[in-house]
Amino acid sequence: MTEPEPWWRDAVIYQVYPRSFADSDGDGVGDLGGVRAHLRHLADLGVDAIWMSPWYPSPMADAGYDVADFRDVDPVFGTLAEAETLVAEAHELGIRTIVDIVPNHVSSAHAWFREALADPDSPMRELFWFRPPSPDMPTDWVGEFGGTTWTRTPDGSWYLHLFTPEQPDLNWDHPVVKAEFEDILRFWFDRGVDGIRIDSAALLFKDRSLPPVVDGQPHPFHDRDELHDVYRAWRRVADSYPGERALIGEVWLPDASRFAKYLRPDELHAAFNFDFLGCAWDAELMRACIDRTLDAHRAVGAPTTWVLSNHDVTRHVTRYGRADTTFSFENNLDGTPVDLELGTRRARAAALLSLSLPGAAYVYQGEELGLWENEAIPPEQMQDPMYARRGHSRDGCRVPLPWSGDSPPFGFSTGSPWLPQPPEWKDLTVEAQAGDPSSMLALYTSAIALRPRSSPFSWTDLGAGVLAYCRGSSFACVLNLSSAPVPLPSFREVLIASNPLDGDLLPPDTAVWLRLSSS
Ligand code: NOJ
Repeated sequence: MTEPEPWWRDAVIYQVYPRSFADSDGDGVGDLGGVRAHLRHLADLGVDAIWMSPWYPSPMADAGYDVADFRDVDPVFGTLAEAETLVAEAHELGIRTIVDIVPNHVSSAHAWFREALADPDSPMRELFWFRPPSPDMPTDWVGEFGGTTWTRTPDGSWYLHLFTPEQPDLNWDHPVVKAEFEDILRFWFDRGVDGIRIDSAALLFKDRSLPPVVDGQPHPFHDRDELHDVYRAWRRVADSYPGERALIGEVWLPDASRFAKYLRPDELHAAFNFDFLGCAWDAELMRACIDRTLDAHRAVGAPTTWVLSNHDVTRHVTRYGRADTTFSFENNLDGTPVDLELGTRRARAAALLSLSLPGAAYVYQGEELGLWENEAIPPEQMQDPMYARRGHSRDGCRVPLPWSGDSPPFGFSTGSPWLPQPPEWKDLTVEAQAGDPSSMLALYTSAIALRPRSSPFSWTDLGAGVLAYCRGSSFACVLNLSSAPVPLPSFREVLIASNPLDGDLLPPDTAVWLRLSSS
């Protein structure tokens, strides 16, 4: 008998953004009670795991990615005991839990930073990147949210933050920092969590000489070689627990071979595929991206991942409804017209694509409902710190989910949601879609149930503008990205179509899963 594949190799992992999933106490912000109350939705959808975006105590300068204490839960979300209950209840429904760890920085409210700031001679300053008082900033580095990376302290010193000033960067050369994070992993593994999502996993280390960023030179703070020893140590921690605990990295790197290094057998188990997420809706580019992905992962024996959306990027219904279907932080909120009907049609086809490629698939909360980016949030209601610094806001993809009813807050809360929901979402609530076989929710539910898991992948050539591949000898996916209908190959049965077929023709922007006659 062959051993079953470890779960993380082909799981469907659903990202819960707790602020926006469901609110159980009426304060307008989602919480763990809300997640617990809707676990059945996730079990019915058929997901294997949930990834919880940060739930830790935080001043929320970056929606919880500014962590004040990695071993507790913010009161706005609930309690540590409730998090443990959630992990246990999810397990009872066959759902694993992944928590989000943020190792590049902490909150300026974290005890270490408060101590460091209070006393210029404190040894705690060694755990961060403090530089002595001087009239000039130590470097001219540009932060990940735009703007400077240095802030002056009351004593005139500078400290480094690649994100907001409320997110001081840790000094990963320091053994105390390394030991602390291994202990944090153990803390959560001891509480039964099945995996860790690693935030900004290719940052962490900095060149100690703080050189300028120069093209063609090793980057002073991106993708430094020292990272790999940290992830080897984390892998040893994960492997010391029973039950296949997984490490999943948020690694944004254009170079596929550098990316794959993080996935060597003694490092991370998986990493998000942002190449796929940012790819244009174009058959040739998609095929090249899928090939690049498969090749890079094959080289290190790691599972591929397929990601269409998350809490940082424009929702893909909106992206695919624009003339420019790629993602970049620059092309959001630029006033480009969006054809939501076209975007939805393509998003349905993309779901059948990402759920039938080999590897693990990620579903960002609300994509199973076909939610689009709320581009109509008034500037004064924007909460994302990126908005003030870079003119781009991630709030439009973070809007609270619509559960039921005909008007906001759509069963999300009894209070006023922390970001406004579009009234048009009345047709996209879980309640409105339940029982409708043509809904996005029904499409995701059947696709997750029927998706091919481990069978081998091979391309089939059906001409320009069409992506077609088999999984094993009895399953095929055909996706028409051209502007004209294309004939389908011979088949025994249509398993799922993202939109109605036109006889034996596959209409544009439509995907179909076929059972083939050959087996
Ligand atoms: C990546 C997270 O996904 C994003 O939301 C956050 O702002 C940055 N890392 C900083 O932690």
